[in-house]
Amino acid sequence: MTTVANDPAGTQPGSPERSLHDTWQLAGIDVPNRVLLAPLAGIGNWFVRFQAQRHGAGMTVSEMVSSFAIHYRNEKTCTELLRVDERERSGGPLAIQLFGQDVEVMRSAAAYVAEHARPDVIDLNMGCPVPKIMGSGAGAAMLKDPDTAVAVAKAAGEGSGLPVTVKLRSGVKKGEADGYTLAARLVEEADVKAITFHPRSAQVQHKGEPDLELAAKLVAELPVPVILSGGMNEPEWITDAWKSTGAEAIMLARGALGDPWLFARVLGLRENDPTRQEIAGELLWVMEQAVTHLGESRATGYLRKFYPWYVTTLGDGHTLQNTLQRAASIDEARTAILEAVPDPATVDESGMPGSTLRAAAPQPA
Ligand SMILES: Cc1cc2nc3c(=O)[nH]c(=O)nc-3n(C[C@H](O)[C@H](O)[C@H](O)COP(=O)(O)O)c2cc1C
Repeated sequence: MTTVANDPAGTQPGSPERSLHDTWQLAGIDVPNRVLLAPLAGIGNWFVRFQAQRHGAGMTVSEMVSSFAIHYRNEKTCTELLRVDERERSGGPLAIQLFGQDVEVMRSAAAYVAEHARPDVIDLNMGCPVPKIMGSGAGAAMLKDPDTAVAVAKAAGEGSGLPVTVKLRSGVKKGEADGYTLAARLVEEADVKAITFHPRSAQVQHKGEPDLELAAKLVAELPVPVILSGGMNEPEWITDAWKSTGAEAIMLARGALGDPWLFARVLGLRENDPTRQEIAGELLWVMEQAVTHLGESRATGYLRKFYPWYVTTLGDGHTLQNTLQRAASIDEARTAILEAVPDPATVDESGMPGSTLRAAAPQPA
């Protein structure tokens, strides 16, 4: 379903009702729906992205990866952070997100990524508020250096030969709108194909209400798709924000941590919260993938970040959490989970936006 040009929100009488299930195009690439997985540093690896796809995500973005680390062929970066699982390729498009402020380093890194990871899109991070990143001139610091930002985006496109998108914030400090202004320049001068807009300043990091009015203004102004990020926790709020801004799509971030079922709830494919069996089954699946990714020993430490999200969704208290945090092996953690939930569900890996979930999508009246 296409939107009416002068009514991107589809709210005027006579406008066709928009649905988050509608397919759309990003630089000529079909995206099966409008609910995407946001980039999440230290989290958004291949199995987290594949998990999001299983639950309905129409497109996924990797965790941010340093263009310098790729350029200098840091081994861990090139093998672990850029790892793409073949199963991901049968879902929606994949973007690898890069960060960095050096034009030639970005050109070289983007070329390497296109050749080795073979994503559909290169996404650039111009919104990271972490002082170490901003201090190097990357992330949200690029909002204050628009000439470099444009040159970096151009170089990413030239180096990779892939469509480039940019994720940015409204500004560095509260009330500033440098990101808003930069977005138009990136599209006009660097041929950036879509903007993901997180309408919070870098100063507030991830706190506070996103400025949806500013997002709506950007949607009305830009000739390319705007994807909305920020505050995506509850299906009703998410749908309202998507409608009121007229954004092309939305990205789930913290809301989907330990709750990948949020994709299906936002898409209207399920109403109920996950059962204890589903949550435990999903966590055990995550643990299996982490072992495949990092081996038993490193996975034991890595998973400590994931346990609190699933234990929260499970609604269990400190006891299980403490046991998982102290577990010295994957087996010990698995035993604790099975003691709490003896009959975990088996994860069905076939649910992808292009297959089962789309077939189950509610049809427009
Ligand atoms: C732990 C964490 C890691 C993040 N990593 C990235 C990242 O690598 N690249 C990026 O552009 N945004 C990153 N973000 C920002 C999210 O993609 C998203 O824009 C932000 O969380 C706001 O959405 P939410 O309020 O729905 O969580 C990160 C956020 C969190 C909480």
